[in-house]
Amino acid sequence: MNKGLLVATILSISCSSFAFAEGACDETALSGYMANIKDEMRLMSSDVKSGDNDAAVQRVDTLISFFEKARNETPYKFSANNLQGSQLKEQKAEYTKVVDDTIVILKKLENALQSGDAPQVKMLFGEIGGQRKLGHGSFKANC
Ligand code: HEM
Repeated sequence: MNKGLLVATILSISCSSFAFAEGACDETALSGYMANIKDEMRLMSSDVKSGDNDAAVQRVDTLISFFEKARNETPYKFSANNLQGSQLKEQKAEYTKVVDDTIVILKKLENALQSGDAPQVKMLFGEIGGQRKLGHGSFKANC
């Protein structure tokens, strides 16, 4: 094989496997729910800014239902890292715990919105951001 052909072959193999990894990564049901969560979070935050707490409460309900769906999924990273057996079980349990903690925070947010407790709403927004950081740091593949 000449040098040019070799380089072309290596390039095409690495590019196609990269494209495959990326395709599989953002085509999961979980990434679909996450995209919905992102959109709903943005809408909820504009409802709060415009003082429409009732609309925000509805959005928090929707967010909870997306997290409940996300809870039944397995992060792509676990299969990409070929986790199996007890390792997979432990990681799955940790993932479920972070989702459950996030749902608890969302329920607190719902109460704070209903009682018009603005400082508490702000604090809980910060906590949700923290859960996002934690969840992505631990369970989101780099793709
Ligand atoms: C409100 C907070 C959150 C927002 C706005 C958010 C948003 C997103 C977005 C935009 C993506 C990329 C979706 C795509 O590829 O198109 C994503 C992926 C992901 N998020 Fe979140 N996320 C949040 C919280 C969480 C939490 C708490 C966890 C874990 C418990 C989590 C776990 C993941 C995982 C694992 C992926 C990769 C998808 C996969 O493995 O299939 N996220 N998220």
